[in-house]
Amino acid sequence: MKLEELKQQVKGQLPSKRYEHTLGVVSTSEKLAMQYQVSLESAQLAALLHDIAKYLSNDCLKEKLESANETDYLKYSPLVWHAPVGAIIAREEYHIENLDILNAIKYHTTGRPNMTTLEKIIFLADYIEPGRTQPGVDSIRELVQQDLNMAVAKTLADTVAYLSQKSKADIHPDTLAAYEYYYQYL
Ligand SMILES: [Fe+2]
Ligand SMILES: [Fe+2]
Repeated sequence: MKLEELKQQVKGQLPSKRYEHTLGVVSTSEKLAMQYQVSLESAQLAALLHDIAKYLSNDCLKEKLESANETDYLKYSPLVWHAPVGAIIAREEYHIENLDILNAIKYHTTGRPNMTTLEKIIFLADYIEPGRTQPGVDSIRELVQQDLNMAVAKTLADTVAYLSQKSKADIHPDTLAAYEYYYQYL
């Protein structure tokens, strides 16, 4: 499927604000893919599909996780569920077979230790695309120009600090493991 066709399909699946965010993630990922020499096509596909499951109901997300034997996610915040389900949908409905693309979608919210360059790019692009305004985002936009690992480390530190204010018990273990792993780059 051509990228333009896929864009139209994704557009039909998302509210306009989320589609705008998705286009922001696509353009940020394209720049990072060129800068850090990963496949432009992989970055475009992963970015375009990363939030494809964002507007499914929790019941539907739960069902998808159960049928894919990914029930561990159900122990943690439903806010994370759309990421692994996005990877399932990318494979089942968009016929994406490339495991690196699928993992970049699956881990875009939590991160994980030792991510591939594509995984880091999607994780960061989701956090820094032009529509994002959270505190500290500008310093990550600068870090991303110098060192991807440092940018990932700062993103995780900010995320863990933010989530800890709410409910630490709810932080997904992949996020905590990623934070411990990338802490060395801070
Ligand atoms: Fe997301
Ligand atoms: Fe997103």
